[in-house]
Amino acid sequence: DWTPFAFAEESIDALKEQLKDDKVVLGLSGGVDSSVAALLLHQAIGKNLHCIFVDNGLLRKEEFSSVLSSYKDLGLNVKGVDAKQRFYDALAGLTDPEQKRKAIGRVFIEVFDDEAHQISDVKWLAQGTIYPDVIESVSVNGGPSATIKSHHNVGGLPDYMKLKIVEPLKALFKDEVRRVGKALGLPDDILGRHPFPGPGLGIRILGEVTKEKVQILQDADFIYVKNLKESGWYDKVWQAGTIYLPIQSVGVMGDERTYENVVALRAVSSVDGMTADWSHLPYELLAKISNEIINNVKGINRVVYDISSKPPATIEWE
Ligand code: XMP
Repeated sequence: DWTPFAFAEESIDALKEQLKDDKVVLGLSGGVDSSVAALLLHQAIGKNLHCIFVDNGLLRKEEFSSVLSSYKDLGLNVKGVDAKQRFYDALAGLTDPEQKRKAIGRVFIEVFDDEAHQISDVKWLAQGTIYPDVIESVSVNGGPSATIKSHHNVGGLPDYMKLKIVEPLKALFKDEVRRVGKALGLPDDILGRHPFPGPGLGIRILGEVTKEKVQILQDADFIYVKNLKESGWYDKVWQAGTIYLPIQSVGVMGDERTYENVVALRAVSSVDGMTADWSHLPYELLAKISNEIINNVKGINRVVYDISSKPPATIEWE
């Protein structure tokens, strides 16, 4: 019988055997998979695991600092890297979703590579790849999500890094990864976290990404997620987020006419992200979120709710 404890024990033994005294580098994303991979490796090789957590400036509000401190509390040997400006510079002028993904992916590799080179004598690159990622990337046509949107975080590092790859979660499904994480003491706020795309808010700001738009979207998203959590809906939906639309619309505030941006709210139920239904959030909750966003986030005067399912829509708008 498969149990998370037996899996963890066997996997830690196998990793000790495989890695001996070698140094390993791993990129943490704040998500479940990379976090669980890090915990397993940490138990196997301790400080020889060097984790890198990059702030790409496209994370949720306050996420970088709070996740970084959770990682430190877990005892991980982790370096937080503020690379926000490098990402914003690379995104300047780009409006095409795939070009934005490529730019974000490229800068991530550059930043990671710079950091990895500062670790002397590193031999291995660890990745939080799970079984569904493996299937998706080897299927004949690259898998639906690979052909429709290029997922930058499934992919490798430049060849010249010549690192051997270690993927401790390669045989696990998502729910098994969560159970292993729980067994290893990963905090609930990381374990229960919604999936979040590698390019982050970069593909939830339609059109050109700027620091100012990121801030507006982070504020709106923060209010949305807070309300989902307070109402108990966060755990009932599979994924939720806000989208910054590239249009302005007329509004009125006091006796002033406004001409500001629109934020769309998205929430879906799904099993694996391949198909999804829009979530029927209660009207009262939507009303509260809309009021809070419009009253508190400067630059937004209209909120809409996305009632499209996948297919034919996708979960993300880009
Ligand atoms: P779509 O929008 O294709 O999304 O219905 C399905 C799932 O994949 C996530 N997604 C991404 N994840 N890099 C990622 O790591 C990406 O470029 C990317 N695009 C979409 C999306 O958040 C959803 O969970």
